[in-house]
Amino acid sequence: MFNKFLHIKKIILTSFIYFLFVSSLMATENITVQINTTKGYKISDQLVGAFYEDLSYAADGGLYAELIQNRSFDYSSAEKKTWTPLTSWTLVKTENKKGQLVYDMSSPIHPNNPTYAILKVGNGDGYVGIENTGFDGIKIEKGKKYRFSIFARQLSNTPSNLIVQLINQQNKVIANGKTKTINQNWHQYEVELIANQTTNQAKLLVKTNNPGYLAIDMVSLFPKDTYKNRKNGLRKDLANVVAGIKPKFMRFPGGCLVHGDGIDNMYNWKNTVGPVEHRKGQRNIWGYHQTVGLGYYEYFQFSEDMGAEPLPVIPAAVTCQNSGASITGNWGEGQMCVLVENMPALIQDIYDLIEWANGPVTSKWGKLRAQAGHPAPFNLKYLGIGNEDRITDDFQDRFSMIYKAVKLKYPEIQIVGTSGPFPDGEDYDKGWEVADKLAVPIIDEHMYKHPDWFWSNLERYDSYNREKSQVYVGEWAAHIKYEGSSHNQSTVEAALSEAAFLTSLERNGDIVKFSSYAPLLANLNHVNWRPDLVFFDNNKIQLTPSYDVQKLFGENAIDVFYPYQQSKTDNKFTISTGKISAENKIVVKLINGEAQATNVSLNFNDDIQSVKSVDITILKSDQLIDKKFKVHLQKLMQTDIKDFVQNVPAYSVVNLIFQL
Ligand code: AHR
Repeated sequence: MFNKFLHIKKIILTSFIYFLFVSSLMATENITVQINTTKGYKISDQLVGAFYEDLSYAADGGLYAELIQNRSFDYSSAEKKTWTPLTSWTLVKTENKKGQLVYDMSSPIHPNNPTYAILKVGNGDGYVGIENTGFDGIKIEKGKKYRFSIFARQLSNTPSNLIVQLINQQNKVIANGKTKTINQNWHQYEVELIANQTTNQAKLLVKTNNPGYLAIDMVSLFPKDTYKNRKNGLRKDLANVVAGIKPKFMRFPGGCLVHGDGIDNMYNWKNTVGPVEHRKGQRNIWGYHQTVGLGYYEYFQFSEDMGAEPLPVIPAAVTCQNSGASITGNWGEGQMCVLVENMPALIQDIYDLIEWANGPVTSKWGKLRAQAGHPAPFNLKYLGIGNEDRITDDFQDRFSMIYKAVKLKYPEIQIVGTSGPFPDGEDYDKGWEVADKLAVPIIDEHMYKHPDWFWSNLERYDSYNREKSQVYVGEWAAHIKYEGSSHNQSTVEAALSEAAFLTSLERNGDIVKFSSYAPLLANLNHVNWRPDLVFFDNNKIQLTPSYDVQKLFGENAIDVFYPYQQSKTDNKFTISTGKISAENKIVVKLINGEAQATNVSLNFNDDIQSVKSVDITILKSDQLIDKKFKVHLQKLMQTDIKDFVQNVPAYSVVNLIFQL
């Protein structure tokens, strides 16, 4: 019996020792990395940027700080079956007062803004008004100032003014103001409101006691506190999140939004500049209404405010290949083209855009920019033509026409072409053929793929021909669905593969000029596409692990790459090393997609023995399906880096900044 006990004890002990041995092996790998700081080569200092598209209510109801939904009464059933010009608006009145709300188009402020409302107010005591609940409620903060404005016109001979109020869920007034007397021509009235309570479910009430008929349009409410305090500005917290990536460029306004759902739906920049009441809103290809209050002027201004180069994309005179799918019956074969006889006008629009952005205030279009508040040129350098189009013969004809025309008149503008929707296949090949034939300076590639695809494509650009066009990885994201979920998720697994891919873009930064994750923003209540980099609603912002990765690479963008040798390469572990020349810093990024930690010995050349400091950022996680990284920060002062060893935890991204 005793012997048997001893035997069992021995087995348990041996198993335990074996477990310790195996888990210690599992726990850490050892990798040596030899970094050659003498053979550094120049890479793009604009590698990480932002791609902004109004989908998932990213603009109206999102980044654009307007709080009123359907402010211009232009919603229609053509945009959504259930919509009318009065959607989002409710007539409110006291019991014994007669009142009516109708819409009209006979005498608008501007033909681009055709529909407006008429408030009919009857005799008797009390008021008649209209109420708007914004985009899923209006968020109002105590003590903050709000800029209310309205275009109004008295249609009867009974002078009146408008009372403007913010109302909380209990129907209590939390801000109050009054317009001047409304006159008989369209005129804009402004009222500043200060809220005495915080609520995320406020309503705007605009009312009057005086009988008569009032035409109203462009009913608007903005927080005064917008990004950089701009009028007609951007929601500050969201804009700060985008700016937090430190994007070196911003591509806008899409995406599919650019080439549009049919010829009339192509994005036309001219409809999006000038006074907002003169702009032409339209159906958004993503199934809702775009006011274009966030238009080209605001996109250029936002880019400038973030220190990012503007990269507008214009349609290549063809529509989205899916737009005519209901006619052809075949998904991907519904591309429609602008008629050849209309091409000169389209090309003129592009010339006008360049003049609007860069021309002097004395030029026709430069003057408009100046009138909008920006006399200095925006210094446009890049222009995208086309968005992941099918590379058909019609596309090629039109792209070539536009390309040659722009090159002739504005040779200084660098054009970004397209290689179709996928990172390989027929359109990709043909897109590159076009780029080769015309010597297009930069070509846009798109890739939405499984994390494993990114891990196995770390060498994709190593073999690209350095003599050909540069690459813009214009839309990319790791897509992964987990059991039980019908849609792609933003997880650590996705983000780690993206970080790994970014190291390969840095290594190939001599030919990969730009990259931008897509899509950028999604309103949690109206998601068209998943995953996105940042989710939000009126009250909160949810940053994804992919955002942390983009931010880390954006903030630690190197401009010189150091070649290196890694002792082990057959696992999900990769690195990038280089220099931020202007700051005299060496940056090493270490990506570990494995379930065990790795000890990395970094060997620099002998000339770098010690550094003033090392800043260490670790983004790590216990599980691949986690939706958040744990962040660990550490700083070492005056460090000997001759034999520098860094532990890189399982599932982590480690960024080391060596201050020389
Ligand atoms: O990023 C979302 C969409 O993906 C873009 O609009 C389009 O270009 C691509 O298909």
